[in-house]
Amino acid sequence: MPLENDKMEKIVSLAKRRGFIFPGSELYGGLANSWDYGPLGHALKQNIKAAWWKFFVQERDDMVPMDSAIIMNPRVWEASGHLQNFSDPLVECRACHRRFRADHLLEMRSAEPGYDKEAPIDFSKMVCPECGGRFTEQKNFNLMFKTFIGPAEDSASVVYLRPETAAGMFVNFKNIQQVTRRRLPFGIAQIGKNFRNEITPGNFIFRTREFEIGEFEYFIRASAWEATFEMWLGEIKHWWKDIMQVNMDNLVWHEIPDGKRAHYSKRTVDIEYQYPFGVKELHGIAYRTDFDLSRHEQMSGQDLHYTDSETGEKFIPHVIEPTFGIDRMLLVALLEAYHEEQAPTAKEGETETRVVMKFPRHLAPIQVAVLPLSKKEELAAAARPLAEELRKQFAVDYDETQSIGKRYRRQDEVGTPFCITVDFDSLNDKAVTVRERDSMQQTRMAIAEVGAYLREQFEN
Ligand code: GAP
Repeated sequence: MPLENDKMEKIVSLAKRRGFIFPGSELYGGLANSWDYGPLGHALKQNIKAAWWKFFVQERDDMVPMDSAIIMNPRVWEASGHLQNFSDPLVECRACHRRFRADHLLEMRSAEPGYDKEAPIDFSKMVCPECGGRFTEQKNFNLMFKTFIGPAEDSASVVYLRPETAAGMFVNFKNIQQVTRRRLPFGIAQIGKNFRNEITPGNFIFRTREFEIGEFEYFIRASAWEATFEMWLGEIKHWWKDIMQVNMDNLVWHEIPDGKRAHYSKRTVDIEYQYPFGVKELHGIAYRTDFDLSRHEQMSGQDLHYTDSETGEKFIPHVIEPTFGIDRMLLVALLEAYHEEQAPTAKEGETETRVVMKFPRHLAPIQVAVLPLSKKEELAAAARPLAEELRKQFAVDYDETQSIGKRYRRQDEVGTPFCITVDFDSLNDKAVTVRERDSMQQTRMAIAEVGAYLREQFEN
């Protein structure tokens, strides 16, 4: 079977086996389409979020951070339009009663040639992919997760878990602009959890009901929108090519045509990815005009105009919004990293398949593995202090069980860029063997030089 076809299965299995991602609540039979990040998944996610934050926030002088509440005043969602419009078209199979998001039925065919995402959906011609039954009429289903504040479960205490982080940045625009005294253009960024009661979650962590978004609202003058949009598209390309280091041929830059965008958006680009299950959205960027701040001004009755401190001009800023699904980026990182290749075994002339996760070095959940050749105490006495020293700067794994060949394969499978073997010669020559993951090249070097060598490798 060609690799692409069963790649998802292999990724899901590796993710569970090696502690990246487990099925949620597995002990109790699971909870459909929920996933828990294990030790390595957590580390990978942290590294992706840290890289995102460094690139889009920390290294720029036009961005400020925030962290807003998940549960907000429900009027926020009235202003944003989520309570009225944040719904998906739902159809039910008349025979097996399974429910589907109408547009996903069409999307399920997105791996097929000639698939047209923009084509209208004619349900009378479609049948249930599970049983071949006919569908009911399409209904709208609101995706907001509802709950109650306090002990009374009545309509006055209804609140919602946020479906996006954006609203937190809009409702704090005035607070943040005033305390930071920022002049336009500037952005407000945050990363956080979001909740959507999706009708058809699936494809592992691609579509779930609970997920993280990293996004920012970049406030501008209306006249600057086209140039600013291009600037951010350029930065997004830079992010994928140089920081996430993906094969750019796997990305599709989908200009959403007139009539298909949200009514307030003058330009939206969906950045799509060639997943094994078809070309689908990875993340997006939209020019949202002054829609959000105007709506919040109208609904709250508060003045959300910006006054330029130098020119005295007063107006409602416009917004460019780049938005990134953190879990989808992690899925892409797993898919891009996965490689199967032939590697020599300990026996002369023989090879075996090695699975190696070629993560960019700065994203690898374990950066360095320290591997004493055997469990003997004299080797541990040399290897443990080295691991302790390296732990101050790197994510280090210390592993002394099984043969060195098996341990190399284990580290390859989780994408550890460097393995350091401490052997019996190390006790005399005070040197170790450093093995690089992708080339499998081994270099002997003095223990005293290892820290500086690794620092240099992770900087490049
Ligand atoms: N403020 C704009 C906004 O929220 P969105 O396209 O609805 O835009 C942002 O969501 C990103 O969140 C998407 O581009 C995608 O990467 C991710 N995302 C959306 N729904 C998701 C889900 N159910 N599971 C995982 N990620 C999701």
